Parts: sequence; structure tokens; C-alpha cells
Amino acid sequence: MSQQRDHWSSNAGLVLAATGSAIGLGNLWKFPFITWENNGGAFVLVYLICIAAVGLPIMLAELLIGRRSQKSAVGALKEAVTSKWPGGRKLGALVGGWGVLAGFILLSYYTVIAGWSLYYFTQTVGWTLGGYPADMSAGDLFNSQALNTGLQLLLSLGFSLGTIAVVYFGVSKGIERIARIFLPILFGILLLMLVSALGMSGAGEALNHIFRPNFAELERGAILEALGHSFFTLSLGMGAMITYGSYISRKHSVVKASGAIVALDTLIALVATVVMFSVIFSVAGMRDEVGGSTVGMLFISLPQLFYSEVPFGVVLGPLFYVLVALAALTSTISLLEVVSAYLIDERRLTRHKATISAGAAIFAFTTLAVLSIPGLLGVEGGGLLSTMSVPFFGGGKVGWFANADHFVSNWMLPTGGFFITLAAGWFMTREATRGELEDGTQPRWFHYGAWRFFIRFVAPIAVAAIIIAVVFGVDFS
Ligand code: TRP
Repeated sequence: MSQQRDHWSSNAGLVLAATGSAIGLGNLWKFPFITWENNGGAFVLVYLICIAAVGLPIMLAELLIGRRSQKSAVGALKEAVTSKWPGGRKLGALVGGWGVLAGFILLSYYTVIAGWSLYYFTQTVGWTLGGYPADMSAGDLFNSQALNTGLQLLLSLGFSLGTIAVVYFGVSKGIERIARIFLPILFGILLLMLVSALGMSGAGEALNHIFRPNFAELERGAILEALGHSFFTLSLGMGAMITYGSYISRKHSVVKASGAIVALDTLIALVATVVMFSVIFSVAGMRDEVGGSTVGMLFISLPQLFYSEVPFGVVLGPLFYVLVALAALTSTISLLEVVSAYLIDERRLTRHKATISAGAAIFAFTTLAVLSIPGLLGVEGGGLLSTMSVPFFGGGKVGWFANADHFVSNWMLPTGGFFITLAAGWFMTREATRGELEDGTQPRWFHYGAWRFFIRFVAPIAVAAIIIAVVFGVDFS
């Protein structure tokens, strides 16, 4: 061991960093959209059950596996598997490597969407100062920026450099410090938006739509979609939380942190949804306009509404895109950390070399994602990357971007997550997991026996159900 392992400086530091990883485009972009598509209420309830029954147990499992070994995904899973089965090293390493690859791919296209928030931030600042152009079509504006390859490369390069700069400084001086500053800002902005949105005429209807379950509206695929999204939104299934867990010192509790991370992530997803639905329900005709795309809600419908409908919209507009950018950044740093920590722990690179080389390699793939944007938007003439489709594993999606997203969400996270439940529930001994979770500081809601039951039976069966559903063709992305 050449360097001493860096650790979170406090429990709050860990909670903020891991919550920052969990809160991201999944909360602001994906969750409101899938809630919309699945007609609200009943879907939200199913999602909450999935978070509690599967998400929370796996969050505990990942953090404990990391804390116990003090190693990132590959090394930690190797140790977890071999604790009962000495021959399992290869399998543990393989699953850890699968997670690192998932992080690599996910980061390569996540950055592109994150880049859009930078663009909309500059635009909204311009509109706040100079007025919203009356004759502009929001849809055309979105397409023209997204199809401008040079601009897209510049935006995602900017975002990548920001991500690299944070991870470069390490766990306590980089990641934790940024989370400590940005997460409170993010909460504050969202609170302002909530106050403003609740004052709008559509707020009551929005709350009704989100919180009043109507089981007649629930479709079969929705249950699996909710389960799949609970992995994505909590950053589970790829070793990100194992990696963050490996920076927890002996002094800090895994259980308390897990409860806080899961609760905050869920709260923020719900608040974001209340905000967006309140705005949309307040405007006549907007429901139909939002129609079929996630991109539509966040980057086409909302920008114009800030300047016509939302109270204090001229201030909240730019702040909203700051919020999206901050949420995305605290997730991208965690994704880059998964890959960098692998290079540091397993390949013995220094942090500086690891961060820069991983960041550069991932950016090469970001370029591919940028070149495939026409395919994502369904525009003709984008070339091979926009028209490619991957048999079976691509789920019938067109273009590099959509295929990568489909593959990560539907195949990589559930399979990785399934294996993690086995590692914690079946391969690690009862004493080992108990020792990590029951260290005298755990909160009252926690019962070891219940966790063990969920991680051994409930979670793996539920995840196996997702995988089987995916094999038979349901899409979660
Ligand atoms: N949780 C993130 C979001 O909701 C996305 C994500 C999935 C992620 N897996 C991750 C982020 C791993 C960091 C690390 O947007």
C-alpha cells in the first residue's frame, strides 16, 4: 500500500456525497416523465414500495461491502464472494468489472444531457435580461442546439472537465467538498421552486395526480419499470455505492447513512415531480403538448413557461438550470470515481493519472454519443451512429445513444444488482454482514434479521423478475 486511503470526513460528508450521486437526471428528468407516462398515483406508490423493499436493502448491501473491504467495486466484490467460497475470485472480479464498464458507458452519454443544462442556463440568463423572444419556437431552439455538433462537443467537454477537476482532488478534498457546497444550494433552489409551483392554479390537480392512487390505471409493465428506475435513481447495481462505501471509516454507520440517502433521493424526485406537474397542469393545452418525450418536459416546455406562467419565473428559470447542472455534476463525479477508483486500487495508478486517463477515454465515447444525437431526436441523415441498432440487447432502439442507455438500464444495472444481492446475502457470512451493520449506532427502524430476509429473498427475486421481463422484451429506459 503506497498511499493511505482517503475517507469521508464525517457522516454528513458521506450522506451528502452519496445523495449527490443518487440525485441526478434520474430524479429531475426520468422520474417525472415515467410518472407522467404511467398516469401518476398508483405508479408512484409501487415505486415507493420498490424503493423500500429492494432499493434500501441493496443500498445497505453496497455500502457495507465497500466499507468492509475498503476497496472499490472489483476488489470489494472479490473479497465478498471469497468469504465463503475461495474459488469465487474470478466471478467477483468479473461482476465488479461489469460495474466499472457500466459506469464508463453511462457517463459517456449522461454528460451530453448534462451539457444541455449549461446551454439552457446561458439562454435563460439571456431571456431574463433581454426578454423572452415572442416569435421563437421552443422546439426549434432545442433541436438547433442539439444538432449543432460543435456546440454539443463544447458543452459536454466543459462538463467533463468540471467532473475531472473535482475527482482529481480526491474523496475528501474534491468530491465531499463539492457535495457539501452544492447539495444545500440544490435543496434551496428546489424549495423556492416548490413554493412558487404550489401557488399556481394547477397545483391541486398535480398533487392529486401524483399522490392519489388509481389502480385501474396501473399497467403490468409499470411495476417492472418502477423497479428498474429504483436502481437507476439510487445509483445501484454497478458498484458506485460500493466505491463510496469503501471511503467510510470505522467510526461511521452504514445504516444511518443509507436511510438518509434513500429518503432524500425519494423526496427530491417527488418534489421535482410536483413542481413540474403543477406548472404543466396550470396551462391550458400544455398536457397534450408535453406529449411523448422526456426531453420535451425539461428542455422544451419548461423554459418557455418560466417566462409566461411561473411566479418569479425570470429568477427561477436560470436557477432551475443551475439546479439541473449541479444535480448532474454530483452524479457524474461519482460515475468517474467508480472508474478512477478501479484504476487506482487495482491498476496502481496515481489518482491524478487515473482521473485524467479515465476522463479522456470516456470523453472519446461522449463524442460518439454526440454524433448520434440526430438518431436520438429522430432526425434523418445522422450517419451510422444515428441509425445503428443492436440486435436483442438494444431493444429495438435506434442510434448509439439510445442503445447505450437501453443496455445500461435494462441489462447492466439489474444483472449487477442481482449479483450484489447474492454476494451480500448468500456469499458473505452472517457474522460479517452483521458486524458491519450492527455497530451500536444503528437507528431504531433497523432490524438485521429483516434486512437479511430482504437481501436473501425479496430483492433477488424481484430483480430476477426484472431480468426475466427484459428478456421477454419490456423496456425500462
Ligand atoms: N442516480 C443517478 C441519477 O438519478 C444516475 C446513476 C445511475 C448514477 N447509476 C449511477 C450516478 C452511478 C452515479 C453513479 O441521475
